[in-house]
Amino acid sequence: MSVTTTIDAKVARITLDNPDKRNAFDDRIIASLTEAFETVGSDDSVRVVVLQAAGKHFSAGADLNWMRAMGKLDARQNQDDALRLARLMQGIDQCPKPVIARVQGAAFGGALGLICAADMAVAADNARFCLSEVKLGIIPAVISPYVVRALGPRQANRYFMTAEVIPAQRAMQLGIAHEVVPEAQLDESVDQLVSALLSGGPQAQIEARNLIERVKTGAIDQAMLNDTAERIARLRTGSEGQEGLSAFLEKRTPNWR
Ligand code: ACO
Repeated sequence: MSVTTTIDAKVARITLDNPDKRNAFDDRIIASLTEAFETVGSDDSVRVVVLQAAGKHFSAGADLNWMRAMGKLDARQNQDDALRLARLMQGIDQCPKPVIARVQGAAFGGALGLICAADMAVAADNARFCLSEVKLGIIPAVISPYVVRALGPRQANRYFMTAEVIPAQRAMQLGIAHEVVPEAQLDESVDQLVSALLSGGPQAQIEARNLIERVKTGAIDQAMLNDTAERIARLRTGSEGQEGLSAFLEKRTPNWR
């Protein structure tokens, strides 16, 4: 099995499980990952998704044998295949449940896309990241919307072009990882995030993510004021908002906990 999914106590853990190939992903693994995210995304018993990997390394990115072979397909098939990886990244980014990436060891190439498409990432202090594509004569194309969102264009410019290896602490400064901890504390740190996520309203969390996408660009003009006002007006009259506000005022636990 190259991708496994377990669900326990409202947490789905999707595991890249091909450590002999450093969890490099080909078309088959991309299809399995896409399906795994679709499945947990629509599973009402799941509140949080953890994307993790077996072995010493998170992932060596795209399988280079597959990349080379795809380049020999006709233009249409080549494009369609690349689009499937783009759709995987979008599926993680838009997963209806919060996604935490748990990263140890190397996370190269496309692996950085998986991590930056997740809502948050916890890295072991041995983690190292690299946008190695240019060394292979290619570019970090389908992952770029998520990586540039995390790094910002100026830092992305450097690391896209130099393919320097980024150590864990630097990755945290750059916005790739939210936390860096000793590897032995990786699970504990992920559990802390899981616990924090379980305390929030599930709909509110996804609305919060959508809100950030809306406000991160664009003028703070009347349209922005109207939009943000509409969002809070809608959320506080919704059943989840009413439940959360009432639970606080009535000194009880909200029904999603
Ligand atoms: N694709 C296919 N096979 C891979 C890949 C990959 N991306 N990465 C590693 N492997 C294979 C190796 O060929 C090797 O196979 P073998 O046992 O049959 O010889 C095996 O995995 C182990 O690889 P090592 O390099 O020996 O592992 P090590 O632990 O020393 O290093 C590391 C791990 C740093 C991840 C290294 O393998 C590496 O640099 N891989 C390439 C990473 C890369 O540049 N990825 C970007 C791909 S492009 C993209 O994602 C769009």
